[in-house]
Amino acid sequence: MVRLGWHDAGTYDKTIEEWPRRGGANGSLRFEIELKHAANAGLVNALKLLQPIKEKYSGVTYADLFQLASATAVEEAGGPKIPMKYGRVDASEPDQCPEEGRLPDAGPPSPAGHLRDVFYRMGFSDKEIVALSGAHTLGRSRPERSGWGKPETKYTKEGPGAPGGQSWTVQWLQFDNSYFKDIKEKRDEDLLVLPTDAALFEDPSFKVYAEKYAEDKATFFNDYAEAHAKLSNLGAKFDPPEGFSIDDNFTAGVPEKFVAAKYSSGKKELSNEMKKKIRAEYEGFGGSPDKPLQSNYFLNIIVVIGVLAILTYFFGN
Ligand code: HEM
Repeated sequence: MVRLGWHDAGTYDKTIEEWPRRGGANGSLRFEIELKHAANAGLVNALKLLQPIKEKYSGVTYADLFQLASATAVEEAGGPKIPMKYGRVDASEPDQCPEEGRLPDAGPPSPAGHLRDVFYRMGFSDKEIVALSGAHTLGRSRPERSGWGKPETKYTKEGPGAPGGQSWTVQWLQFDNSYFKDIKEKRDEDLLVLPTDAALFEDPSFKVYAEKYAEDKATFFNDYAEAHAKLSNLGAKFDPPEGFSIDDNFTAGVPEKFVAAKYSSGKKELSNEMKKKIRAEYEGFGGSPDKPLQSNYFLNIIVVIGVLAILTYFFGN
């Protein structure tokens, strides 16, 4: 969800005035032509998860839904509260999609220079580039999508969700500042460091912020929340023009309970620990999971318990 919101907004070009040609948070990423841009590989899965919500609440625009989903994901994962506003208008046709190539590459010849080219075009500063990169505290990279990352690691092989990929952090569903600590250390082969991640500790101007965020989670949260809100508004046209906020204390409706399993994909095997436990329980009464017990075994147990109960009754008296 976070990557979906970022890739919709991150096509913004501040040198183009005309909406929606300037790109940005206008929901154009829902169109197949843009979803097929190489940088967006895999995002169709996130769109599919939001589609039923859009169908149920058709008045909400895609542009708002993408940004709402992203900000909510950050907050639910333990990240900062993001000062969001809503009312984004949707681009209406596929031919309003931006051309391919406006999002950053992970391994360009000069990573720091490339990050500046792309993020300055959106109107961001060095501080905001570093803070936003901290979103990689969440999620995984998959070689079959972006070409980056390992097919699986010890941190991803059991999911949750579709297993596999390589994460930047150990707890990759928890939003904190571990991304900065981990890419600084580069000690764990199972954790990803893209060339553009490494640049944050190599470039002298980026490094000041990256060091600060590795040490100070509160400053990271504060700067991240501000930069994320700015990202979510890039290029957007609001109706009403000033946008509106969503009241968190809204109580008129009962929110639907979130059941993660409904949204999880991929086979999830029992963990080895659980398999061992089940085996021990079987073996405890003479069986084995490979050799199911005969059904009359249970009948015998019931008969023995019955006889014992009768004997206790008579001898007890
Ligand atoms: C700084 C330049 C950036 C580069 C070069 C970059 C590159 C990448 C790459 C290669 C992936 C792996 C995609 C895949 O294989 O599925 C990825 C994933 C991700 N990116 Fe970035 N990214 C950048 C900035 C950002 C920003 C600014 C955000 C959000 C504010 C963000 C959020 C994410 C998230 C959450 C994922 C994980 C997606 C998942 O688990 O499916 N990235 N990024």
